[in-house]
Amino acid sequence: MPNLFNEFNLKDVRLKNRIAVSPMCQYSAEEGVPNDWHRSHLGSMAIGGAGLVVAEMTAVTRDGRHTPGDTGLWNNAQAEAFQPITRFIEQMGAVPGIQLGHAGRKASVNPPWLGNDHLPADHPDAWEPIAPSALALGGTLQRVPREMNLDDIAQVREGFVSAAERALGAGFKWLELHFAHGFLPQSFFSPLANRRTDGYGGSFENRARFLLETLSAVREVWPERLPLSVRLGVIDYVEGEQPLEESIELVRQLKALGLDFLDVSLGFNTADASQVPWGQPGFLVPIAHQIRREAGIPVAASWNISDPEQADTYIREEQLDVVMLAKAMLSNPHWPYQAAQKLGVKAPSEALPTQYAFWLKPHDRIVGDE
Ligand SMILES: Cc1cc2nc3c(=O)[nH]c(=O)nc-3n(C[C@H](O)[C@H](O)[C@H](O)COP(=O)(O)O)c2cc1C
Repeated sequence: MPNLFNEFNLKDVRLKNRIAVSPMCQYSAEEGVPNDWHRSHLGSMAIGGAGLVVAEMTAVTRDGRHTPGDTGLWNNAQAEAFQPITRFIEQMGAVPGIQLGHAGRKASVNPPWLGNDHLPADHPDAWEPIAPSALALGGTLQRVPREMNLDDIAQVREGFVSAAERALGAGFKWLELHFAHGFLPQSFFSPLANRRTDGYGGSFENRARFLLETLSAVREVWPERLPLSVRLGVIDYVEGEQPLEESIELVRQLKALGLDFLDVSLGFNTADASQVPWGQPGFLVPIAHQIRREAGIPVAASWNISDPEQADTYIREEQLDVVMLAKAMLSNPHWPYQAAQKLGVKAPSEALPTQYAFWLKPHDRIVGDE
């Protein structure tokens, strides 16, 4: 029976434990280039003992940024700036991962602490969002995107491919495509966001097409030996969304095209998230478990997982293969070390690098060593 501190092997990659840092936008880059903030933020999570550290949603094209401060991989300078970050994460014994995305109708937006609304169209930093259909998301996001034509679709797909190649060159060993949270790929899949009447809209087959084509094209450049993951918004908890069975069928089809791992998440295809059972710890875990069983693929999930025993139970019961943590790691980057202590792991300090571990070993082993 696996536990939270067992290794996880996928393709040629070994995670030292089942704890992953979930991707978290920092809204702090300039022209998509990561900087000292990203290095410290991601580096601290690697020091803290996570097995996998996934860098934030990184835009595959300039116009695919969610906010002007998003990181990007649409040019080589950005890839070079990621290199010291991936190197450091690996030196700390963690696997460096990255999430690639395109914001779609959620592009050209102020960061959350400035309102999470669209920049005014005439703002010097604003640009025109594109999406499968000319429908605004609603809530704080009222700007109507331009409906994508077939050239736009091909360009975004190629953007994913080029960004995946750059991610590889930057030293990432785990790739996650962001097909969730109301961003562009997710809005192709959701009938709430996609009203197209061509081959990319309507039926399940058509709504799935962009996601399947993109995954397949990325798989051609992302080496077989390295894990390719998708974060899929499998449920919205609103009327009019696709049935869960469609999401599971999509996972099966993605798997047939080379998907290795699924990060189960929410759709966020409407401004109304009031029906999401926010108060329930690990509310997505039973759904992730169902997908794991029915699609036969290793899975992770996040949302309201913060207690070590809770996380360990999900792994022991083989509901999840990996737990994704976001806010728990923000509030305590040493969460893995403290979880190891709480769970009575034999040598909890081994979750940390030597520079810290040495001092945190049981006292009797270091007396006189100072
Ligand atoms: C600051 C912040 C930024 C986030 N940015 C992203 C992101 O870039 N990509 C993504 O898929 N999810 C993003 N999320 C969602 C988290 O990855 C995670 O799924 C969510 O916070 C639920 O996990 P938690 O309950 O452990 O916080 C972000 C969350 C936070 C708090």
